Amino acid sequence: MHVSHVLSILATVAYVTNSQSIQNCTRTFKSTTAAAAFAALDPGWNLGNTLDAVPNEGSWNNPPAQASTLAQVKARGFKSIRIPVTWAYHFTSDSPTWQVDKTFMDRVETVVDQALALDFSVVLNVHHDSWVWADPSVANANTTMIEEKFTRLWSQIASRFSCKSSKLIFEALNEPAGSTKEHADLLNRLNTYFLDAVNRAGGHNPNRVLSLSGLNMNTELTSLYFTRPTTYPLQPWGLQFHYYSPYDFVFGAWGKTIWGSDADKASLVNDFELFHGNFSHVPTFIGEWSVSTGQTETAARWKYTDFFVSTAKKYGYSSMQWDNGNDQLDRTTGKWRDEVGIDILLAAAAGKVNSLADSTEDGSATSQFSSAYYFHKLNTPIADAQIQYILNGNTLLSITDNSTPLTPADFSITPSGLLTLSASYLSPLATAQPGLHKTLTLTFSAGAPLTLSLYVYTTPTLPVTTYNLTSLPPGDLHIPISYAGLPQVAAVKAVLADGSYLTDAWTMYLGVLQRGYWTFGEWEGEGAGLKISASGVERLRGAGQDVKLGVEFFPRVEGEAVVVRFVR
Ligand SMILES: *[C@@H]1O[C@H](CO)[C@@H](O)[C@H](O)[C@H]1NC(C)=O
Ligand SMILES: *[C@@H]1O[C@H](CO)[C@@H](O)[C@H](O)[C@H]1NC(C)=O
Ligand SMILES: *[C@@H]1O[C@H](CO)[C@@H](O)[C@H](O)[C@H]1NC(C)=O
Ligand SMILES: *[C@@H]1O[C@H](CO)[C@@H](O)[C@H](O)[C@H]1NC(C)=O
Repeated sequence: MHVSHVLSILATVAYVTNSQSIQNCTRTFKSTTAAAAFAALDPGWNLGNTLDAVPNEGSWNNPPAQASTLAQVKARGFKSIRIPVTWAYHFTSDSPTWQVDKTFMDRVETVVDQALALDFSVVLNVHHDSWVWADPSVANANTTMIEEKFTRLWSQIASRFSCKSSKLIFEALNEPAGSTKEHADLLNRLNTYFLDAVNRAGGHNPNRVLSLSGLNMNTELTSLYFTRPTTYPLQPWGLQFHYYSPYDFVFGAWGKTIWGSDADKASLVNDFELFHGNFSHVPTFIGEWSVSTGQTETAARWKYTDFFVSTAKKYGYSSMQWDNGNDQLDRTTGKWRDEVGIDILLAAAAGKVNSLADSTEDGSATSQFSSAYYFHKLNTPIADAQIQYILNGNTLLSITDNSTPLTPADFSITPSGLLTLSASYLSPLATAQPGLHKTLTLTFSAGAPLTLSLYVYTTPTLPVTTYNLTSLPPGDLHIPISYAGLPQVAAVKAVLADGSYLTDAWTMYLGVLQRGYWTFGEWEGEGAGLKISASGVERLRGAGQDVKLGVEFFPRVEGEAVVVRFVR
């Protein structure tokens, strides 16, 4: 504390010399350690694709941030909000002043204040600036400009927010670009300029908790290159890393719709272990992670969520879910797209043991099951249904249908979690139309309740199954699908007329439900069907021959695809 005061007085002198004004805060400040501040983040949520949108708030898929959204996140049980902000298009002057537009700064302060007023811990950062102007890996990067602009930007942010409560944490730079030691050296300098700018802005900043940045904010590059700053030794600071691994699963790439094998779990633990081995005494949180609700299979997503959050907690890492606005919270309705997934996340963050729906974990399987669903094929005989759960030591307390409990004649469960729904209970499915029949709720002795959705399904129909690439207009292509079961595209296989794959020939070494499958980004499921992005359409065109897309649905079974042809 004493040394910190001396330093802040020194900093004050330097700052005044720079003819800028020091804030004299009227409110008191409850000093805390980085470890305590980071622990209080768990679990957190990101106001993604909002103030970080390029060029402006509202430019991407979300409307401007609303206080009501933050209140919905608070009511659901989250403790912290990360507010990513891209400042790049809000400078009103160039070098050397790099003045931030006052209206934009006011707007950021409004949103930060809304979050603080709800008693959230808040992480405020410099976000996509990392690739818009602060990327040292581009050709002819001007590192002098990056250093100057970054420092000026943080001087202004730190000055504006200098008197905010200790619940406000500053984060230097989101996912800094680059890959080499040289890029990391620049970043390590930026971290020290950040410390300096924050301290010189005065107010409560010398005691504010800071999140410093490692290259890409990934575990490996941060471990390799991050150097601990030696200035401001009493400033409470720590690190964060971001985690989107395995990429193919969390984004639904290359037909990867399963997760949860021992090897899958070991890989995640290994990444955390490596980071922890390097930074065991550095307070750390996970500022972003997510498993897409639109692109992943439900039971696998629940398993991942549970394992991710509880493993992070074991290592002492609070975690903040990324939400781009399309994945988690529907900001219009206030409903979460996967309420069970959020229940699992909250329970795991609270240290509770969840029971889970089982699902396929073997990558070589030719069909996949998921205990988040019971799929009854249209016009097939009704029989007892067996559905496997991973009880994790809990017991099943009840199954309810719209709060009415099922009776012992309807179901039974073994100690190892094999649930049987009786044929008599399922008999109404015999005459039900394809689609969702009902959703049951399973309550366990501990952890989150799970849903079990009963679907009748058959092969979906596509009004158009042949597209002529020669006459197709440029832009995104929307392929309508009349669903006849779970309304979600599971995966897309893309094979050329000569038998080769549209992309990623190496997928020939994967299991049959991944061989020749198209990666994420050029296609995605959307409410009414399948969207092929403009670049995806260009790739189809560039193939130079006809392409056959095998569009797959859940349940996934080898050979059960609806074929869409692209001719020319
Ligand atoms: C803070 O207090 C100092 C010393 O009293 C004064 O010089 C400075 O102008 C004040 N700053 C602001 C922003 O009011
Ligand atoms: C690099 O940036 C500095 C500071 O903004 C500027 O003075 C200098 O002219 C820039 N150099 C080039 C080559 O653009
Ligand atoms: C630290 O990180 C490096 C580089 O990623 C890794 O090779 C090493 O095993 C880690 N050290 C410990 C003690 O975990
Ligand atoms: C695709 O459209 C082009 C241009 O209209 C036409 O010449 C070609 O015959 C069509 N291909 C097929 C297979 O119908």
